[in-house]
Amino acid sequence: MGFPDVRMRRLRRTPALRRLVAETRLDPAQFILPMFVKEGLSEPRPISSMPGVVQHSRDSLRKAAVEAVQAGIGGLMLFGVPQEKDEDGSAGCAPDGILNVALRDVLAEVGDSTVVMSDLCLDEFTSHGHCGVLGPDGTVDNDMTLDVYGEMAVAQASAGAHVLGLSGMMDGQVGAVRRALDEAGFGETAILAYAAKFASAFYGPFREAVESSLKGDRKTYQQDGGNIREALREVALDVEEGADMVMVKPALPYLDVVSAVRQAVDVPVSAYQISGEYAMVEAAAANGWINREAAILETLTSIRRAGADQILTYWAVEAAGLLRRV
Ligand code: PBG
Repeated sequence: MGFPDVRMRRLRRTPALRRLVAETRLDPAQFILPMFVKEGLSEPRPISSMPGVVQHSRDSLRKAAVEAVQAGIGGLMLFGVPQEKDEDGSAGCAPDGILNVALRDVLAEVGDSTVVMSDLCLDEFTSHGHCGVLGPDGTVDNDMTLDVYGEMAVAQASAGAHVLGLSGMMDGQVGAVRRALDEAGFGETAILAYAAKFASAFYGPFREAVESSLKGDRKTYQQDGGNIREALREVALDVEEGADMVMVKPALPYLDVVSAVRQAVDVPVSAYQISGEYAMVEAAAANGWINREAAILETLTSIRRAGADQILTYWAVEAAGLLRRV
């Protein structure tokens, strides 16, 4: 079979034909919107490296959460930015810490109508910006950090979070958090493990969003970009320790990892289209170099095609709107 029998263009001729044979579809129910809330703000504050994304006040967060639910988004992922950071990131565990308060606010507003998730990591709360507590030698102490994650998990579960997003990349964090939750009577709270999280240059704008004072990098706990077998080991360990869902992060530079993880495990696989991926498209579009909306949908489609079941994306609400139009 060859010319003239096979004409691939026949099924591309009209938008309706292309829609009919589409292999990959986007559904807003699979989008998760990451949201930032900053303690003490009375008005939302723009994040300059993420045009269109803000640090919310408690009030504006509640409203935006309702809008996201109305747009049909599958879930929300909350990040808290405290006014005061300290060595141990104590605001992360405090019941009146900004993230735990914001969880209560949002849950009071949206209840079970969407899935409310919270970032479980210390970097938003520590004065040094690392994802864990530091030992005497100034490096991140894995097992001391696990104890704090357990405490933080119970605080977030008490505030009503449906799913905890464990993003710290400490060894044993899934097992430690699962145990802490179960012992405190939160057997129903689910764990989304950022199982394969790479030490990426694309987290840059996020550091502005959470006012991180990190000097240096996270390479002693986040993975090297070139290692896919190691990513699969991380995923297997997290599933064994009790992860209900796993994540690959970032998304676009790691689509092969998304695909390999999808084939390796049967739990839901999420991918996080991170701040730098967002910023790249926004910056190019602002210069008139690419078609912004087409680029947004193309990146999301690619992440789905690679095998992600859920996508965390700062465009969640806007993309839901774009999909209603196409
Ligand atoms: C850690 C965390 C980070 C992001 C989500 N959770 C930052 C990091 O690991 O450096 C980044 C998300 C993004 O860049 O959009 N709490």
